[in-house]
Amino acid sequence: MHPPATTTPRTLPLPVLGGKLPLFGHTFRLFKDLPKTLHELEQSPGPLCWIKILGSWVLVYTRRESFDLFMNRITSSARLIKQGSVVIGKRSMVSSDGDDHRHLRKAASRPFTPRGLTMSGVSATIEEVVRARVDAMLAKDEVVLTRETQRIALDIIFRIMGIPDSELEVWADKFNVLLKGLIGPRINAPPLPYFFSSRARDWLDERLKAIIDNARDDPDAQGLVPEMVRGRDDEGRGLTDEELLDNLRLLVFAGHETTASVMAWMASYVATDVEVHDRLVAEATAAEGLPQAPKDMGAFPYAEAIFRESLRLHPPVSTQNRDLTAPLEVDGVTIPAGTTITVPIWLLSRDPELYPDPDAFNPDRWVAHKRKLSPLETVQFGGGPHFCLGYHMAWVESVMFITHLARRLAEQGRRLVLPRLPKESFFPLIRPVGEDTRARVVPHKMT
Ligand code: HEM
Repeated sequence: MHPPATTTPRTLPLPVLGGKLPLFGHTFRLFKDLPKTLHELEQSPGPLCWIKILGSWVLVYTRRESFDLFMNRITSSARLIKQGSVVIGKRSMVSSDGDDHRHLRKAASRPFTPRGLTMSGVSATIEEVVRARVDAMLAKDEVVLTRETQRIALDIIFRIMGIPDSELEVWADKFNVLLKGLIGPRINAPPLPYFFSSRARDWLDERLKAIIDNARDDPDAQGLVPEMVRGRDDEGRGLTDEELLDNLRLLVFAGHETTASVMAWMASYVATDVEVHDRLVAEATAAEGLPQAPKDMGAFPYAEAIFRESLRLHPPVSTQNRDLTAPLEVDGVTIPAGTTITVPIWLLSRDPELYPDPDAFNPDRWVAHKRKLSPLETVQFGGGPHFCLGYHMAWVESVMFITHLARRLAEQGRRLVLPRLPKESFFPLIRPVGEDTRARVVPHKMT
């Protein structure tokens, strides 16, 4: 859950979640046990309930209709600038609204479309990293799944931006220092994290700017950055250097921990259930190659089902906030403009009407699914104009990862083993507890 950046008052006499602490409100409860807290909010009388996070009141809207807020007809995302400016700057698409957002999104989006992924060479780079990293991972007899998937996801993002293999380590270090600036006061003096974060940002920006300059100088260059440099909005306007830098940093931020989390859950389910493992191996060894784009997914229905079910049960982004720019009417109550409303992605992912036995891991619900997915069925990636730009990339990357992993394990006659499903941690996003994902790689005969 992202806390709002400034203090918003509790504007309406609606129910308030119990167990509030004087200084911290509901912050600790939510981060300690997010599912329990969300279920309590769901059970409060009516679809709206206040909670207090880091000094600010937000209104959680537990009904399915909360998804409509993603359409951004009467909401704004601009508040994210205050929360995350050290990472995403002032010109990133995730914190822009209206025409500004349309300009940034249109000009940046080509390499992320299903065709763009293959045409720009992004899928080929993803495959290279997945093959190299999974092979290195399986040279060991014990692996910490979260560590491996974080490395894969981060390497992929940096490699598609044109960063050479030899520099990946230092880029990863600098990016981690940058992220520390999101927490604590925004004071640019040592020893405060913001100071080191700002310096890491300068380091990253100087090098990203060189990559942008090279792409501007070479009209035939291939890859993500050249595509973004050449990208145009509907009026023919391209992205400025500031816009490119803010959005490249956003891509690393938005695209690596999220995908790493879902890949770690996927591998955890495979490692705790031998039947899931065997079925996945049967599919992976019967198919040829690895999927490069959504159109190739037909040969990998079970791997895709593991991806969708892992995401449904553990959506890395569990909730998303929006600020109302106009009043919203719910059951005769008028919520005033300025109120921060939370869309509970986690609850929408476990809606019992959409998913019978919603808490069970059942990939077959997706294998049997023959219709086009509805917007609610991909709610883990948001919806409307801000729907995740990296959706197709995350999908391809995750299915590639689990399929290649299964194939390599089969070749080695081994499988991953975890004694039980890892516990979840909820802050800053949902992911398995690292130490709980320490898996053994043991000999295995298919049943
Ligand atoms: C499983 C993996 C992922 C999940 C669960 C996820 C989730 C989300 C969500 C919920 C949003 C909506 C934010 C909002 O409405 O305010 C979003 C937006 C975004 N995501 Fe992802 N994401 C994932 C992977 C990626 C990847 C791989 C990339 C790119 C490398 C990426 C780039 C973005 C960008 C740029 C936005 C902002 C789009 C906009 O504002 O128009 N994401 N993502």
